Amino acid sequence: MDMKLNIPAINVLFLLLAISSTTQSVDINIKKFGGGADITQALTKAWEEACAATSASKIVIPGGSYKMEAVDLKGPCMAPIEIQFDGTLQAPADPNALDGADEWLKVQHVNFFTLSGKGVFDGQGATAWKQNDCGTNKNCKKRSKNFGFNFLNNSMVRDITSKDSKNFHVNVLGCNNFTFDGFHVSAPNTSINTDGIHIGRSTDVKILNTNIATGDDCVSLGDGSKKITVQNVNCGPGHGISVGSLGKYPEEEPVEQLLVKNCTLTNTDNGVRIKTWPSSPGASPITDMHFEDITMVDVMNPVIIDQEYCPWNQCSKQAPSKIKISKVTFKNIQGTSKTKEGVTLICSKGVPCEDVELNNVALTFNGAPIVAKCANVKPIVTGKAPACTCTA
Ligand SMILES: *[C@@H]1O[C@H](CO)[C@@H](O)[C@H](O)[C@H]1NC(C)=O
Ligand SMILES: *[C@@H]1O[C@H](CO)[C@@H](O)[C@H](O)[C@H]1NC(C)=O
Ligand SMILES: *[C@@H]1O[C@H](CO)[C@@H](O)[C@H](O)[C@H]1NC(C)=O
Ligand SMILES: *[C@@H]1O[C@H](CO)[C@@H](O)[C@H](O)[C@H]1NC(C)=O
Repeated sequence: MDMKLNIPAINVLFLLLAISSTTQSVDINIKKFGGGADITQALTKAWEEACAATSASKIVIPGGSYKMEAVDLKGPCMAPIEIQFDGTLQAPADPNALDGADEWLKVQHVNFFTLSGKGVFDGQGATAWKQNDCGTNKNCKKRSKNFGFNFLNNSMVRDITSKDSKNFHVNVLGCNNFTFDGFHVSAPNTSINTDGIHIGRSTDVKILNTNIATGDDCVSLGDGSKKITVQNVNCGPGHGISVGSLGKYPEEEPVEQLLVKNCTLTNTDNGVRIKTWPSSPGASPITDMHFEDITMVDVMNPVIIDQEYCPWNQCSKQAPSKIKISKVTFKNIQGTSKTKEGVTLICSKGVPCEDVELNNVALTFNGAPIVAKCANVKPIVTGKAPACTCTA
């Protein structure tokens, strides 16, 4: 085919030809849209065709440099769809350019969706971070996240890199059976609000073999997260793996069944953390949280339950958190802490934590064992673990 054809209408025609010429699995190659070309329209058109196809389709975006505005890919669709992306895709650097879209690439209401390939989604967030005043301004501008995966079932992201998002890298909402495997998140430690993967109202989400380097939480679990596995994940820099913050809103759903296993946190602010707001309406419980085989490398607060989470003094600590935390195990946690109090378990005096277990928590600070600071919890300590100095 003639590679010099650049007129969008002709390109769409090629796309349609490509779709109609296959029989079993539909391959849609948008290569003809050229290096540096904007693939906003091409991807949208390709999706419409793929979504209407009655057999599985794969939208192929080969190596090369592309640009894209905000794209919203909607189902339900007739059959599984994979997008294979091997290029580099840039979002507009201007934080206002994505028309206030919540996400740069949003995929919604699809069963059997896969995003795969060696590709890099570069959110070009540097300007957005510089302008971010959300720490002090309640009405600050909400910037686009790189990815929004909403109400997807049986779906996955394989390989793929999310780079320099303007806001969170990935938001997973209302999904069932969603897997990240070999995923990468990359942003500098100074980037603000760039959580790696945030999960909410979703069941059976797995984050496997993934490296996350960013300026905020590597993985954060919002309300309604159930049956979550984080395994073979490297996190750092960043703020660690976090459950919460929870309790700020009345309508929250419980958080249940988290397994964090074989993960390494390097130079992060927190290691593994559960945080809830005091003096707030939310009261849905957090239960069955298991952290095991974790290595900490120079982590500020390696193990932390904080039920008095109140950044920027946005709340009062007068009334205790109403959230009950139970069945939490920290097992085989080793490595180095950057603070002496490497374990902090500050539970709610309204609803003390129950069934918290420290089993082989062998962290050191400056070569000496760390100490544990606790309130409103009586942890079960087995194996090597710091004794708990309880303040309540
Ligand atoms: C996903 O699964 C839920 C629960 O089974 C179902 O209600 C929903 O329709 C499914 N969504 C799609 C897009 O298949
Ligand atoms: C989960 O989704 C994957 C596709 O991503 C599928 O292969 C697998 O069968 C699904 N598992 C269940 C329990 O439905
Ligand atoms: C970011 O990392 C650099 C070293 O790579 C370090 O000098 C700096 O203090 C870090 N900044 C923050 C905010 O963590
Ligand atoms: C632990 O995770 C690392 C990746 O960070 C992986 O290379 C290693 O094989 C994993 N170990 C086990 C026992 O799964």
